[in-house]
Amino acid sequence: MTSNKVLFNLVISFITNITSSSSGSNVDNNNGSILIQSNKHRKQVGAAGVKSSSKSIGVVIGSTRKGRIGKDVAQWVIEQSHIEPILKQYTNSSSSKVELIDLLDINLPFYDESLSPAELNGQLSSENALKWSKLMSSYDAYIILTAEYNRGPVPVLLNAIDYLYAEIKQKPMVLISYGYTQGGIRANEHLADMLENSFLSMKILSRLHLPIREDMFVVKSFDSNSNSNSNSNTRYKQLKDINNSFKPYLVDLNQSVAQLLHFISS
Ligand SMILES: *[C@@H]1O[C@H](CO)[C@@H](O)[C@H](O)[C@H]1NC(C)=O
Ligand SMILES: *[C@@H]1O[C@H](CO)[C@@H](O)[C@H](O)[C@H]1NC(C)=O
Ligand SMILES: *[C@@H]1O[C@H](CO)[C@@H](O)[C@H](O)[C@H]1NC(C)=O
Ligand SMILES: *[C@@H]1O[C@H](CO)[C@@H](O)[C@H](O)[C@H]1NC(C)=O
Repeated sequence: MTSNKVLFNLVISFITNITSSSSGSNVDNNNGSILIQSNKHRKQVGAAGVKSSSKSIGVVIGSTRKGRIGKDVAQWVIEQSHIEPILKQYTNSSSSKVELIDLLDINLPFYDESLSPAELNGQLSSENALKWSKLMSSYDAYIILTAEYNRGPVPVLLNAIDYLYAEIKQKPMVLISYGYTQGGIRANEHLADMLENSFLSMKILSRLHLPIREDMFVVKSFDSNSNSNSNSNTRYKQLKDINNSFKPYLVDLNQSVAQLLHFISS
């Protein structure tokens, strides 16, 4: 695939850049999206080159509400960046994989363990929490997505993170927010602070904010027969053509993905 070649080359040029230069954090602005790259976590690359061990990346959809756009955004991230084929190519391993993680399927209760996750060391009491813990510990890296509610990250996502400690501690990730006007910048900043500066000490390689606008949406109605939810609201807003609307953000997305792939493969 020629498109895969493009990002593969981007990963390679990324390596070339970091080996030849190193300076502070930079902020780019392409058509409204904002990419904040962290140089803190850049790795030195030796002359040895590409390793060939299998790696896996989990992409967490940070919202569960009815009519959410989070799943569409996560699918857009995976599809448009071609992250999985490129990861396989870059790690030289066909068992490398990228998986979509939907908190709706995990269905966690509010954190109610008698000890903190660090003290429990994975000995969680609910079956769903155990499943979540095992799943999250299986990845080498993450892309975490959040919407912005009242200038903060989505509570369902925060609760899910509250269950974790060793599963994600010090692991690399890319943080992506979306929202009106500034692309969920405050939710993004808040969540970055929690993940990076708490004892979770995650390595956030870059943070991406994706602005959404009213004209990107179309108002729809749920099929009243197919979904017997107690929620009586039947209207929701759907992104009408995410590929087209988000096209301007693709340069930044590709750069974030390239950075993550480079980090976990070197
Ligand atoms: C982003 O990467 C994908 C996969 O390599 C490629 O198809 C696409 O053209 C890239 N887009 C931009 C704007 O760089
Ligand atoms: C979007 O970015 C492209 C290339 O970076 C540029 O040519 C174009 O003028 C930008 N459009 C807007 C609306 O900023
Ligand atoms: C990938 O693996 C194949 C088969 O072992 C090997 O020939 C090739 O050189 C490897 N490529 C890289 C980039 O390591
Ligand atoms: C966006 O593009 C991908 C292919 O890159 C396609 O699979 C997907 O269906 C498209 N999404 C929409 C909503 O058109």
